[in-house]
Amino acid sequence: MTQKTPQIFAPLDPAPRLIMGPGPVNVYPSVLQSLSAPMLGQFDPQFTAYMNEVMVLYRQVFQTKNQWALLVNGTARAGIEACMTSMITPGDKVLILNFGRFGYLLKEIAERCSADVMMIDTEWGTVFEPGAVRDAIKKHRPRIVATVHGDTSTTMAQPLDQIGGICREFDALLYVDATATMGGMSIDVDGWQLDAVSSGLQKCMSGPPGSSPITFNERVAEVVSKRRHIEEGIQPDGYAAAQGQRIQSNYFDLAMLMDYWGPDRLNHHTESTSMLYAARECARVILSEGLENTFARHRQSSTALRAGLQAMGLKLFGDPNHRMDNVTGVLIPNVVDGDKVRSELLQDFGIEIGTSFGALHGLVWRIGTMGYVCQKANVLRCLTSLDAVLRRNGYNAPAGAGIEAAYGAYDG
Ligand SMILES: Cc1ncc(COP(=O)(O)O)c(C=O)c1O
Repeated sequence: MTQKTPQIFAPLDPAPRLIMGPGPVNVYPSVLQSLSAPMLGQFDPQFTAYMNEVMVLYRQVFQTKNQWALLVNGTARAGIEACMTSMITPGDKVLILNFGRFGYLLKEIAERCSADVMMIDTEWGTVFEPGAVRDAIKKHRPRIVATVHGDTSTTMAQPLDQIGGICREFDALLYVDATATMGGMSIDVDGWQLDAVSSGLQKCMSGPPGSSPITFNERVAEVVSKRRHIEEGIQPDGYAAAQGQRIQSNYFDLAMLMDYWGPDRLNHHTESTSMLYAARECARVILSEGLENTFARHRQSSTALRAGLQAMGLKLFGDPNHRMDNVTGVLIPNVVDGDKVRSELLQDFGIEIGTSFGALHGLVWRIGTMGYVCQKANVLRCLTSLDAVLRRNGYNAPAGAGIEAAYGAYDG
């Protein structure tokens, strides 16, 4: 037999990048280190103690007293699917509040759960007034309302402080996708009466994609427990399944995750050890800085970035009263090719900024100031580099104006 020459590539050597898009972004150095910590068995008491610590840490990040704050293995949409698949029984009325691309994702997932889906929309770049949400809930009487907190596709943040109360008034459960805001803007789960919230690590938590922190309260736990089933191979003696319809996904079954993360430690998946280390470190870093300080840092850097961009004569996208504090939409000036500018920023300066989806593609760049990236030096670097690239592409901003305005914003 002739031996085939194995196909081997050079060792990994990713170029250093400053990632200033809508996520993923550069990872905290201590989070990178945590990823190389040694493996532990999933029922090693040291590992289960780490799992418990993760629950304690994420309760604080989510600002909640909920018992259930845990990780779903997979990117942010794994957490979305776990919440929606477990909360929605086929046939349930689900109302989606849609103000961007990720509202459509919630709609699609609700449809896959065989829900009776209704959606209200608002123009991209705007958010909902509480009154409009109330009218829609009153009209449709959904069992579940689902929305996004910060939709990176439009860079808008939906105020949620009144939406939870309105849902309670009509006895609906409220699910929120807070992937893009966690660690960058406050998510007051208990204060805003959010019933279930899911997130991801790769934005303001400055971790790698691949773990989805979620939390849910007793109202959700009750719904989910009514559908609790245990896999046949591990059922204890005398076990009787709950009467409710079995949750259609095994992997995303919150009842099973409760059994696994709870004191019973019933075997489910093998917890993703390294991602749990990373998630633990992300939360540790942010809580050590202090949530309020972290949020203030994001507000300050996006204010400085926006001041710089506007001083360069660029126009910002969307309702100025409802912008996220961690990503900025910028209208691409007519005289330049948006993708060419992005690629030159990457090639010549090692800086990545984001393009846009759907109707905004080619019209809007999205510049992120998220997590570890959200620092004065990076904002100044981004503005100077963008100024240089724009100049080479025929757009001449007033010399030095962007950087001066950003300095001014930081100096306050
Ligand atoms: C608001 C929002 N929801 C969900 C997602 C999906 O996350 P993932 O790609 O980690 O599954 C993203 C990613 O950009 C997002 O910004």
